[in-house]
Amino acid sequence: MFDEDCVVSGMRPTGPLHLGHYHGALKNWMKLQHEYPCFFFVADIHALTTHYEDPKDIEKNSWNMVIEWLAVGINPSNACLFIQSMVPEHAELSTLLSMCTPLSWLERVPTYKDQQEKLHERDLSTYGFLGYPLMQAADVLLYKTTKVPVGEDQVPHIEFAREVARRFNYLYGRDEDYEKKAESAIEKLGKKGATLYRSLLKRYQEQGDKEALATGQAYVSEQNNLSMSDRERLMGYLEGIGKVILPEPEALLTPDSKLPGLDGQKMSKSYNNCIYLRDSEAVVEEKILKMQTDPNRKRRSDVGDPDKCPVWGLHAVYSSEESKDWVQKGCRTAGIGCVDCKRNVIATINADLDPIRDRIAELSENESMVRGLVLQGCERAREVARETMNEVKLAMRLPVL
Ligand code: TRP
Ligand code: SF4
Repeated sequence: MFDEDCVVSGMRPTGPLHLGHYHGALKNWMKLQHEYPCFFFVADIHALTTHYEDPKDIEKNSWNMVIEWLAVGINPSNACLFIQSMVPEHAELSTLLSMCTPLSWLERVPTYKDQQEKLHERDLSTYGFLGYPLMQAADVLLYKTTKVPVGEDQVPHIEFAREVARRFNYLYGRDEDYEKKAESAIEKLGKKGATLYRSLLKRYQEQGDKEALATGQAYVSEQNNLSMSDRERLMGYLEGIGKVILPEPEALLTPDSKLPGLDGQKMSKSYNNCIYLRDSEAVVEEKILKMQTDPNRKRRSDVGDPDKCPVWGLHAVYSSEESKDWVQKGCRTAGIGCVDCKRNVIATINADLDPIRDRIAELSENESMVRGLVLQGCERAREVARETMNEVKLAMRLPVL
């Protein structure tokens, strides 16, 4: 459907969003929504892969997640927002792709063993958990996504999706008269062109000569008098693949959030060091007042070093240059106390969160509007998804009506 780039990303609804999500993924999504057609979805089926034994919060978390996205500024008229399980084509494509996905590919995705070890209190020896990366591949291939904004940890999953797409195209991208059609496209290059193309084809296919491939690709892309589909066919034929039905997606690495957690480590629910978007002013204040500071600054009269203090990490993201100077000087000369320093950043964070909290409260009162938006998002997503499913079924020789 889209000839241009398009972006898809999802988040698992396993809990409320925190400032790490906000300064990492969400700010990046807000930028992307102005640059590409975007699909952002709540990955609720993915949440079940780890939470199948205690799914009770998934529904609430899913709606809350949509509300939080809207509250921070994801704009549903720019980006299509939906919930994965409401677009059944995700499950459908995942099933069809599973037919041609080697088990060994799934077993060697690094997150498989890592997560099983990390979440050892859960029994993750399920078919669904093993299939996690395949479902993620289906999520992105369904929209013929070219760009997938993800964190570093997810890059192997995108690499996996590329392999799945390549294999799919290789297996199902050649129809019966694939060769006949390619030959007739070659004829259209004229005598000289056809001879050139055939010799480059031979050099690449028989000797793996990459230079010949590159020359051939450049040559084909210049043939403006050929139709688009002939050009695509000649490209595919050159590479030894058929028609590209599912394009290979690319990871768009999300810049890491610079905001540390309350203990100075990366902010993460599992470290219990988060400030949540939904935390009240009083909770934000309490959490920050409890933070450890530079361990060498035991008394008010001791000088401190912001580089050894996680509170500085909050200032670094939130404070004005002027306040940062005030902290740097005051801390290093014992001119300010840690409580002064903390109160200053508490005020800034609370001022920033205030309008977000208000919008969360407002949207939470307006359930029917949120549901309506998601319904619209699902419908838009399904239009694209159905089209892809049709192509996939045709290619896999399934009967379609
Ligand atoms: N696996 C991703 C995560 O844990 C969530 C996800 C599911 C996703 N499907 C996706 C991300 C598709 C990008 C694209 O963060
Ligand atoms: Fe940390 Fe601020 Fe105290 Fe310095 S003054 S140790 S930066 S809390």
